[in-house]
Amino acid sequence: MGAAIANTTELRHTALLGLGVYRPERIVTNEEICQQIDSTDEWIQSRSGIKSRRFAGPHESVLAMAISAGRKALEAAGVTGQQIGTVIIATSTYPVQTPACAALVAEELGTGGAGAIDVAAGCAGFSYALGLANDLVRTGSEDHVLVVGVERMSDSTEPTDRSVRFIFGDGAGAVVVGRGDEAGIGPTVWGSDGAQGRAIRQEPDWVDFATNPTQKRPWIIMEGTSVFRWAAFEMGKIAQRVLDKTGMTVDDIDAFVPHQANARITEVIARSMNLPETVAVSGDIAETGNTSAASIPLAMEEMLRTGKSKPGDTALLLAFGAGLAYAGQVVKMPVLAD
Ligand code: UT7
Repeated sequence: MGAAIANTTELRHTALLGLGVYRPERIVTNEEICQQIDSTDEWIQSRSGIKSRRFAGPHESVLAMAISAGRKALEAAGVTGQQIGTVIIATSTYPVQTPACAALVAEELGTGGAGAIDVAAGCAGFSYALGLANDLVRTGSEDHVLVVGVERMSDSTEPTDRSVRFIFGDGAGAVVVGRGDEAGIGPTVWGSDGAQGRAIRQEPDWVDFATNPTQKRPWIIMEGTSVFRWAAFEMGKIAQRVLDKTGMTVDDIDAFVPHQANARITEVIARSMNLPETVAVSGDIAETGNTSAASIPLAMEEMLRTGKSKPGDTALLLAFGAGLAYAGQVVKMPVLAD
């Protein structure tokens, strides 16, 4: 018989060591969106809470935004690229399927050959990627993992489609997951409801588009009301499962950072959880729109920058969207890059 498999015998504590974001330069107002869709600033604000969002320009590619946010997260964490063992990128808008965006980010940040994967879980992507990163560090497979959520939703939504164009925006946010002195990231709860998988979808698929000359190009299509109902009815229960699994109640949390889907969805979930008024709730959607997999790290940054929350606060993260997929965990808020 050969040697036994050398497994880590003790789980390690993990933490968010640092946060960095990239917000595209160009601010796009509701007025500008309404030049191409039949809508009004008043309708958009009252139905979604969105006042403006940012659209990335030609030099602000998914890759460039991921690198920028990742670099800032490394700085905030005081970690070098060499120390990063794995890069995980959550995105559904990286424009090529091969190679993974993560491999190029790993190279650019000087990791010297880190493991690299992209995760496509729609707007739930960041919490999925964070759960994977956490378990890699907790079990001893890695000491430092870079997690990036990044999207260019403006590329994927038809400019004249009034059911989606006003809601989405672009940007990137990144965290470094590493070892902690105490528990800084709780267990992940995740799942999906494929029966409702078509409620947010790309249509047509790219092969269909490429082989059929009359086919119009693929865009994201959303059955908004179905998704709204699912999120409003189900996500409060998922938040409770996250707290139960973490051994906490709503009285133990300082901040609630849900995916910035729609300000009304956030309100309904907070109410269904009986969230105490003392809990700070992210409202980054007003200036940022819904940035899909980038929204949670961007929302964390907004809370830290404006003083609504501070490093070390206990925050409940809850991500949900296409799939329909969801994921959540409790974390201690990280430090922000200067
Ligand atoms: O991030 C991934 C997950 N995504 C989400 O969580 C998004 C979830 N869905 C939503 O946030 C909401 O469904 C939207 C904000 C997208 C839409 O709000 P809604 O309250 O569900 O609107 P609706 O589609 O039910 O439409 C209500 C009315 C309709 O008119 P009638 O039939 O009542 O006369 C629509 O024709 O509003 C009309 N409408 C609009 N009016 C002005 C629909 N879109 C627009 C628009 N501007 N852009």
